[in-house]
Amino acid sequence: MSIRNPDTYIKDLVAQNHHFASVLHFFGISFYKYPDNRLEEVCQLKGLDIQVVLNSLKNVLVQAKTETQSTLKDLPIEVILSYLKKTHKSFIRHKLPFISDMIKNISPEYFDLPDIAKDLKFIFPLFVEDFIKHIYEEEKIHFGYIERLNHALNYDVNAYTLFNDLRENSITNILLEHKEEDDEMKGIRDLTNNYFLQENSGLYTRTVYLELKNFEEDLKKHAYIENEILYPKAKGIENKVSNRLHSFAKLN
Ligand SMILES: [Fe+2]
Ligand SMILES: [Fe+2]
Repeated sequence: MSIRNPDTYIKDLVAQNHHFASVLHFFGISFYKYPDNRLEEVCQLKGLDIQVVLNSLKNVLVQAKTETQSTLKDLPIEVILSYLKKTHKSFIRHKLPFISDMIKNISPEYFDLPDIAKDLKFIFPLFVEDFIKHIYEEEKIHFGYIERLNHALNYDVNAYTLFNDLRENSITNILLEHKEEDDEMKGIRDLTNNYFLQENSGLYTRTVYLELKNFEEDLKKHAYIENEILYPKAKGIENKVSNRLHSFAKLN
């Protein structure tokens, strides 16, 4: 069996790699609705070009290997910000809707843990709501401040406005607050006993747990970039801008 093969059953494809479930979701194919159909059949049913679907499935394997953290460190802050915003978008537009859809559609006949399913259906939408709020505030308030600092470093800005901005905001405080909010998935991790799977767990349970676990890993990597790369770099810019403002004040 290979992903080059349009004859592959949907259930075998997802069992091979749980990431394929999210690619199929992107094309409007819920894997749990077509487990015993072949990929080619489902593509025909949905009016999809099989080659495009197969290429996307292959791409997911390549993407998983790409490591970005080490190279980001040396890039300008505006590139780091745009990378983080792109990741936010991918969380909100692709990953979360896919996991939400799976959790919402858990049914007892194909999910082995009925009690956990009930709690997951309740707790996951609450987590999503909090998470979206986090992203919204982060981009608007924190990233917004960093963008203004970076602008002040490179262009002439009004000294009075800048003085007030520096007085009202602080990268040190933003970072402290951000680190406190770090463990957003604790409730879900505890509920699922650290995403613990039995050897005989079914495909649906396995895919939900692996996707949740993977999402938490993605969030950790994302928070690492923010805490260890973005904010320290922003602190450096804040210091420079503040020093420059003080020397300007002394001259006047
Ligand atoms: Fe973020
Ligand atoms: Fe964040």
